[in-house]
Amino acid sequence: MTISRTALAAAAAALACTSVWVGRATLRRILGDAVVTAQELWLRPESLKTYVSGFCPWTCAVVLVAVVGGYFVCVLLFTPMDRVRLLGELGYVPDGKVDMKEMSKLVQRRRQTGDVPPVYPNGWFGILESRSVTPGNVRGVSVLGLDLAVFRETEGAVHVVDAYCPHQGANMAVGGRVHGRCLECPFHGWSFDGATGKCSDIPYCDNNSIPSLAKVKSYPVLERNGFVYMWYHAEGIEPSWTPPVIDEIHTGQWTWRGRTEHVVNAHIQEIPENGADVAHLKAVHGACLLSGIDLGRVYDNCWSFSEHLWNAQWTPNSEPDERHIATIHLTHHLTAFGFRVSLFNMKVLARQIGPGIVYLTFETPFGRGAFLQALTPVGPLMQRMVHHIYMERRIPTIIAKFYLYGEATMFERDIMIWNNKRYASKPVLVKSKEDALVAQYRRWYSQFYSEHSPRFTLHKDTLDW
Ligand code: FES
Ligand SMILES: [Fe+2]
Repeated sequence: MTISRTALAAAAAALACTSVWVGRATLRRILGDAVVTAQELWLRPESLKTYVSGFCPWTCAVVLVAVVGGYFVCVLLFTPMDRVRLLGELGYVPDGKVDMKEMSKLVQRRRQTGDVPPVYPNGWFGILESRSVTPGNVRGVSVLGLDLAVFRETEGAVHVVDAYCPHQGANMAVGGRVHGRCLECPFHGWSFDGATGKCSDIPYCDNNSIPSLAKVKSYPVLERNGFVYMWYHAEGIEPSWTPPVIDEIHTGQWTWRGRTEHVVNAHIQEIPENGADVAHLKAVHGACLLSGIDLGRVYDNCWSFSEHLWNAQWTPNSEPDERHIATIHLTHHLTAFGFRVSLFNMKVLARQIGPGIVYLTFETPFGRGAFLQALTPVGPLMQRMVHHIYMERRIPTIIAKFYLYGEATMFERDIMIWNNKRYASKPVLVKSKEDALVAQYRRWYSQFYSEHSPRFTLHKDTLDW
């Protein structure tokens, strides 16, 4: 449910009028003063001064505060959430001498990375959100070590091609123009078909003599559940599976209520690994939501009377055509002074679909909904993590925002771990079903790497010239 700002302003004004209802005598006075009509003002502009001075300043102040306050209340209640936290805004511990941003840079420089797996696994990645690619427009995206131009035809289909023009290397995502299903380079006007990547027109040359080398690489793309997904495979192999459609979203039973976006400094494999790492749930996510995101302090504050209890099972799918999927069954309870508060019970079914997609459907006492996670490498050890929330149409947006806020807070605690840890290629695991799952997860995830999957090289190696 999206509400325009004009509608919100109107609602705020209505709220303001209601709030001054108690002072309706004053209001009547204001309306009485309005006898100074527009015509009179037009004829005698100097009367405006008299008119304005007739207002009680307190009435004006109350109306102003009520309009502004009403606007923010309406925003809180009705508009979808949009929470963006970029690298350096959280997940580090300032030491008193340097702030969070500076600490982020320091940690990135000095942290040991560990012997990480290849950095760009094979699969579908949510490279953009559908709503951000409007018809007839092009957007530049740098993901998976590629610079891409993503554009939407005026008819609606989205295409993804390499951004650099084969003619003289202009970046077509910067100033490129969309014509039909083609993208026109801003430098000399060559046009490229979005579906095939072939050059279809050169303004100063006979189109029959366009060389076959005049083409850009185009990538398999599909739009589903509000995301633009692109298929990446280091060996150039065509897609062997696709992300499933979520029926309730497709039919409109569940509506979009907001998004969060985070940038995480870690290897991509580390992030979904938390789904299988059930032992971290108590340590990281056990403390009450209101305790915040600083893991050093979450158990040491006035909210310690309340706790989250989690129970999770992680299982890789064994059906031949679903080996790219793993399933997590999760239940959540909130306790206060040792008693369960059933209002916050949650039953979750999460599906990890390939290396960078998680669809998580949940049931709460308020109704059902889904979190959709898109995880995309924007650098070898840098991930953009976007979450969308959908809930049943009848559920007020403020409820959905509460769940999304809760989910974001829990992820922000994970980010503190991810941003600072070293990848443990040979973790010391103990004989337990919890640690066995981590080993099982790593075997499952390894299916997304292939012979030519790009490996991480230290920056200093690449500058050896
Ligand atoms: S560089 Fe693109 S047309 Fe020349
Ligand atoms: Fe976690």
